[in-house]
Amino acid sequence: MKTTVKIFSLLLAMILLLQVPFASAGAAFDAPTLNREDWDSLYGSLCDENTLPMLCVGADENSVSLVWHADAETAKPKVRLAKSASMANYVEFTGKTTEAETDDQLVCRVTIDGLEENTTYYYKWYSDNGWSKAYKYETKSFGDHKALVVGDIQIGGQTEDSSVQSDVGYNWNNVLAEALQENPDISYLVSPGDNTSTGKTADEWQTLLMPQGVRGLPMALAIGNHDKKGMAYNYYTNMPNEYFGKYFEGLDRDFWFRYGDVLYLVFDACSASAADHMAMAKEAVAKNPDAKWRIGVMHQALNGPAFCAFSAETQILLNAVFSPIFDTFDVDLVLTGHSHIQGRSHFMYQSMTIGKANSGETYTDPKGTVYLNTNAFCDHDSFEKYESLNLPYVAYSFGRNDVTTYTTLDFKGDTMKIETKRGDNSELLDSLTIVKTDDDHNDDSIFKKLHRLLYKVVEVLGWVYLEGDKITVAIRGGHF
Ligand SMILES: [Fe+2]
Repeated sequence: MKTTVKIFSLLLAMILLLQVPFASAGAAFDAPTLNREDWDSLYGSLCDENTLPMLCVGADENSVSLVWHADAETAKPKVRLAKSASMANYVEFTGKTTEAETDDQLVCRVTIDGLEENTTYYYKWYSDNGWSKAYKYETKSFGDHKALVVGDIQIGGQTEDSSVQSDVGYNWNNVLAEALQENPDISYLVSPGDNTSTGKTADEWQTLLMPQGVRGLPMALAIGNHDKKGMAYNYYTNMPNEYFGKYFEGLDRDFWFRYGDVLYLVFDACSASAADHMAMAKEAVAKNPDAKWRIGVMHQALNGPAFCAFSAETQILLNAVFSPIFDTFDVDLVLTGHSHIQGRSHFMYQSMTIGKANSGETYTDPKGTVYLNTNAFCDHDSFEKYESLNLPYVAYSFGRNDVTTYTTLDFKGDTMKIETKRGDNSELLDSLTIVKTDDDHNDDSIFKKLHRLLYKVVEVLGWVYLEGDKITVAIRGGHF
């Protein structure tokens, strides 16, 4: 009997040993947590360059894209993709180059399409030193999937002191590593903006792109007010379905993308061009009538937990421009940032709470939109000002920002599960589950059509505001 048990145990151990490599391979990100010394070493080795690529979400789950800066003399917009690290049988994708912010470099943009789900790929891009080394990118399921949400990465913090860039980058690396290690099934990242501090310098983007985790994580980055201080965003991103509108100017743009059953409407909320925002939403919705979930993304914390609640810009202007869009298109969830305090609203409609969305609860076919605000990577000491706020529409608030949080959106069948966790140890802070059994958005109902017709008044007022804002921005010398 003992011999039988021993043989059985040995066989079991062998099976487990054999299984471990298969279980971990194909499921983990290359996203190491670094101690400060290792981060400083990485930062020091890369901070004088300007060539790191960003992996960007594609128009749908079948594609991603790459954008990077290259020497103008040798730039080639080419990416190779293979299913093994040796790059055997690679497929080469060619894109285009466009001017960079300096004459010395060009911006290379390449879209990779035809991706298969649950597949491990390796890619190389044509860098200043020839072909880069191969980096791993794993696709996940194209149906049920999980998204990562963080905001106000804001490399550079609130100053132009470059030492702060490294500090924020260090936090960014490790929160990202924590999120990806705890959630190896994440498909892409969405951020409601303020990716950089000054919006003007290459080193902010270089630092943002330093963490190993971003090599294998497609990102969708909205524009925030800090990005809007300059034009750098224009040269470092390659977002899908960019919408440049009729009245947008300079950096202004919205974009949208689809992944599985989810449609993301990403707005540049630093522009009050209501006509353009509505037109983008209409176009995206018309092209994706079958998307079960609609998620809005904008920077300023509409229905958020902290100072935006007292900001006329957010409460009056942005409320007038964006709430009708989210209301008439049945947007389920809006992701915001800007206030640097994490929090989430109850179900909102026409700027009022129309249903409770209590933490830990599940709601089936609820009416209204949930607004979720991220906190920041760059700001750890302003939470005390907001500790005593008790806003009636806020369902949950972490109320502090000395710990950066991250949120995951888990889409499974009829269900979207929203979970917010601490970025240092993944302790669960807040969760909400929404079940949707009715996929019909009724976009063509008379009521909604009338609502959108009345919105023409907002479009005209938005245009008037835009013209006035141009003068204000010119006098001020830029956006806030
Ligand atoms: Fe902001």
